[in-house]
Amino acid sequence: MKKRVAILISGSGSNMVRLVESMGEDHPAEPVLVVSNVPGAVGLEKAAALGVETAVVDHKAYPDRESFEAALLEALQAARPDIICLAGFMRILTAGFTKAWEGRMLNIHPSLLPKYRGLHTHARAIEAGDAVAGCTVHEVTAELDGGPILGQAIVPIRGNDTPDDLAARVLPMEHQLYPAVLRRFAEGERSKLLLE
Ligand code: GRF
Repeated sequence: MKKRVAILISGSGSNMVRLVESMGEDHPAEPVLVVSNVPGAVGLEKAAALGVETAVVDHKAYPDRESFEAALLEALQAARPDIICLAGFMRILTAGFTKAWEGRMLNIHPSLLPKYRGLHTHARAIEAGDAVAGCTVHEVTAELDGGPILGQAIVPIRGNDTPDDLAARVLPMEHQLYPAVLRRFAEGERSKLLLE
């Protein structure tokens, strides 16, 4: 039986597209649902075009994180996912939600964790004068961007890089790293993958 994968997005969904496209016939997993917390997110159209069921759970429609997550859980349960992939999902999840999915939920973060948890990762790496940057796929735990690392991809930072230049260099590596890590994770492999 293939592992059932639900993917949570908030925007363009470029990582979601690569994950869905990577799950072919020979793959140990299959995409069963794409959920966005943002109504009208462009990624929803891309998911539908790829033939994946979509749902919207608008966080603005709920008074607090807990009620939003209860609605999110309801949408997810209908699809019976074995694995959840956060892919450009911009909501912080409570410890209650992450605990319920611990060991079954992945995220991609655009920095070489544990450096630069949180936002504005590329600007911070440039500001710090780092020689390299990159992205990390990790298991999601209650600690923001803090779970076990499953894979990283490294790119150089060049002298006159702007944060956008760096983002443009990192994003294609995200698109390579996340599908590779998902396949390994679905096969039960937990050792760290390094792309450079
Ligand atoms: C990417 O930089 C990803 O690392 C971050 O959100 C950005 C957009 O991702 N989490 P996507 O195009 O929506 O997948």
